[in-house]
Amino acid sequence: GRLDDTGSINLDEVRIDEHDFTMIDKIIVIGCGTASYAGLVAQYAIEHWVRIPVEVELAHEFRYRDPILTPRTLVVAISQSGETMDTLMALRHAREQGSKVLAICNTQGASIPREADAVLYTHAGPEVAVASTKAFVAQITATYVLGLYLAQLKGTVFRDEIRQTLDSLKAMPAKIQWVLDTQPDRVQRAAEQLQDAQSFLFLGRHVGYPVALEGALKLKEIAYTFTEGFAAGELKHGPIALVDEGEPVVFIVPPARGRNTLHAKAISGIEEVKARGAYIIAVAEENDKDVERYADMIFWRPECPTLMSPLVDIVPLQLFAMDMARQKGYDVDKPRNLAKSVTVE
Ligand code: AGP
Repeated sequence: GRLDDTGSINLDEVRIDEHDFTMIDKIIVIGCGTASYAGLVAQYAIEHWVRIPVEVELAHEFRYRDPILTPRTLVVAISQSGETMDTLMALRHAREQGSKVLAICNTQGASIPREADAVLYTHAGPEVAVASTKAFVAQITATYVLGLYLAQLKGTVFRDEIRQTLDSLKAMPAKIQWVLDTQPDRVQRAAEQLQDAQSFLFLGRHVGYPVALEGALKLKEIAYTFTEGFAAGELKHGPIALVDEGEPVVFIVPPARGRNTLHAKAISGIEEVKARGAYIIAVAEENDKDVERYADMIFWRPECPTLMSPLVDIVPLQLFAMDMARQKGYDVDKPRNLAKSVTVE
């Protein structure tokens, strides 16, 4: 619905005029929890396509550090519920400082879209479970459409390349379906083997880094397992000290077809922890022989461009958290201590 007859991107719910969009020289994405991780994925894609700096900030930290906001700064507030108080207060601060705010929201007419200058609804349907799942995928998709729209306006990417990227985006539902059709048995087996694990480490690089953070959050939220997600490059700067015999480590491995150095570095990270006895779960592209050599369990992703991979890679990790929670007899929809929407600061 965002494409017109000529294949150009058309954001008709956005009430910021084209001239103001063209003048934007910085984007700050704000959100909390899962929404902030969707923002981190967006940072890689939007900087790559639009060639302007993108910062990502937790909404509750944003206004307290006195951020540099100008009329040429676009603040993108991501919120599934549209009622998260931290994000709403950050949005108000940005508008008071004269910046334009675009909300990416799943809930029609909620406070955040009502107070924003522009809205991009994710139209993912009501998300009932406390742990965010489809909203994450929809938020990333919305930020990509926004990024491609800005690239189109600013002329930073050729139109035929934009069209190719949109075609890749349109192919993603089928790839997610492939994961849902073919991977659940493996995911279930991993959950059975690891249900008694005391802790997990989730590691990723580039767009795999926010996926690691989000996968770790799912496991904390619904399986109540102590889990830490971090950038794989940090491993040798400290966290590798945590790795001991049998420690489960989940690696998001980028495709070797992308930036090969990233793939090679991910493999060397896997080797490092394997040598210390870790149990490796890898999320990797089909037929990745290097991963096959080291991983104890692999959740396969069908071939897709690197920037699209988060849309698929999070799915087996969401399933894994669900299976882990079920094994332990927890309610996966209503985890303890959590509310769907945090309406207090
Ligand atoms: C996600 O699983 C969480 N329950 C939580 O981190 C959530 O994403 C966060 O509170 C933000 O909510 P929002 O998207 O409704 O603003």
